[in-house]
Amino acid sequence: MSEADRKKWEGRYSPDALVMGAGPPATLLAWEDSLPRSGRALDVAAGEGQAAVWLAERGLEVDAVDISPRGLGKARGLAEARGLGARVRTWERDLDDGLPAALAPAYDLVTCLHFWPGVELGRALVARLAPGGLFVLAALSAAAWEGRSGGPSPRFLTTAADARAVAAHLTILGCDEAAGAAGRELWLVARRPE
Ligand SMILES: C[S@@+](CC[C@H](N)C(=O)[O-])C[C@H]1O[C@@H](n2cnc3c(N)ncnc32)[C@H](O)[C@@H]1O
Repeated sequence: MSEADRKKWEGRYSPDALVMGAGPPATLLAWEDSLPRSGRALDVAAGEGQAAVWLAERGLEVDAVDISPRGLGKARGLAEARGLGARVRTWERDLDDGLPAALAPAYDLVTCLHFWPGVELGRALVARLAPGGLFVLAALSAAAWEGRSGGPSPRFLTTAADARAVAAHLTILGCDEAAGAAGRELWLVARRPE
């Protein structure tokens, strides 16, 4: 399935322009005041790097992981165009195989935006948080598609219960499963206790 996903995203990212929007995802902007401005960030399913580059602009050293070489190439291009090439490191990786072994042991911020990692990988992400580190998740909400046909594949959808299960050992600062303009986005923000 990951190979099909890689091909799909390689195709989607083929235009030179950013296809996922120019700025960082709305969940990050909404929590801007809580995000660290120094230290290390891990952005998984980083796509074209809008979030990673924005975080680097704010002072973080960012590791951006994605399955799509084209997306990551755009992320590097974006970082370099803003003079941030040294602060954004890209990792081509199929997350179905887990996180790259050579990542840093701990991060001040872990973001997973517009991608549901599943509970197991989600917990592995949370386990990378340094004490006091922040976790930001945004994914498609299963609640929005309940009882409706023609929606996304169920493996891309999640529930507040599963998102909370990922963050079970964290302090949950907020969670909404009917967010976004169409009420179809779930987000969760949580902090690892000091
Ligand atoms: C909806 S996009 C979100 C991109 C970015 N986080 C954003 O918010 O713009 C989903 C991303 O997940 C990546 N992806 C899908 N399956 C993956 C996998 N198995 N391993 C790593 N990345 C994957 C895709 O390449 C794509 O960049």
